[in-house]
Amino acid sequence: MFKARVFCPAAGALLPFFTPALARSVTILDPSSFFGLEVRRLFLIVLVLASLIVVVVYGALVWSVYRYRTQGENLQVEYQASPLRGNERLEVIWTVIPLLMVLFLFGVTVESLVSRVLPIGAYRVEVEAHQYFWNFTYPEGFHTSNELVIPVGQRVEVAGTAVDVLHAFWAPNLGPDVDLVPGQDNRTLLETRQPGRYLGECNQLCGPGHARMLFRVIALTEAEYARFAKAAQAFRPVVATPLARRGETLFQQNCAACHRVEGVSQGTVGPDLTLFGLRTTLGAGFLPNNRANLKAWVRDAPALKPGARMPPFPSLTPQDLEALAVYLEGLKPEDLDFNGLPER
Ligand code: CUA
Repeated sequence: MFKARVFCPAAGALLPFFTPALARSVTILDPSSFFGLEVRRLFLIVLVLASLIVVVVYGALVWSVYRYRTQGENLQVEYQASPLRGNERLEVIWTVIPLLMVLFLFGVTVESLVSRVLPIGAYRVEVEAHQYFWNFTYPEGFHTSNELVIPVGQRVEVAGTAVDVLHAFWAPNLGPDVDLVPGQDNRTLLETRQPGRYLGECNQLCGPGHARMLFRVIALTEAEYARFAKAAQAFRPVVATPLARRGETLFQQNCAACHRVEGVSQGTVGPDLTLFGLRTTLGAGFLPNNRANLKAWVRDAPALKPGARMPPFPSLTPQDLEALAVYLEGLKPEDLDFNGLPER
């Protein structure tokens, strides 16, 4: 018979051991980032200390149960523990050992915290959280949305605010999370040792679209990053085909009021779409960016993401959607593509 009373707590207790394997992309113990290494180091130190305590305490418990168990003919005998009074040596031992442990944990934690400090003049990207997307502004003046591009091996400061309600910016593999609060300027740092696409998420319940308010951090080698930043800074949309031109017209009519595209429109209600063609995901990181998903998203965003602020566009014909998709996919510099990067 299925014993739920036994099975559920057992499964619950085992869950933490399997979660990193199942959801590999969101384990803070991931050694691909400096932050992950530091967290893992502290975690292992605490685990070893805690295990020692468990062995001593449970050892004493099991030993006493065995040593003072009721035996055979002595069923009527009741053991009376003799109370301990004024044993100074014992009192010193059980005060000093925990004190040393706490001081040691304090020391290694401070060491970790100090090593995580942001250097002065760190590369600083501004983040702006909205229901339900992210805009990023780079020191060179260009923007991306929902995908933050950073160089490998550098501490990058991510600083910013929220425009509507409380959100939190969290890339579990790359750095500590930070609450983004309307009217406040908060900051965190990201750093990684390996190029790749890392998962990030909003870490504060911010409305019905919260679960689909994800993002990606694209980590590039220093050389690749320099190439990206240069291309992004110089980028202006080029409309090459009649279909794309039709898409641009439709964009001006339907999208420009809310979305910004460098040199084309200035909307600020929705994500900045200037480099949309570089995006590997859609709808704040919850759908792969391909043409079918893009058309479905434009046609009816709230159907795909509860609470999405973008209205449905039932008046757009399939040909209109195709033209818009072609135009949006073309919003990228030549020779840049992040789809080949390993997912981490
Ligand atoms: Cu934004 Cu949750």
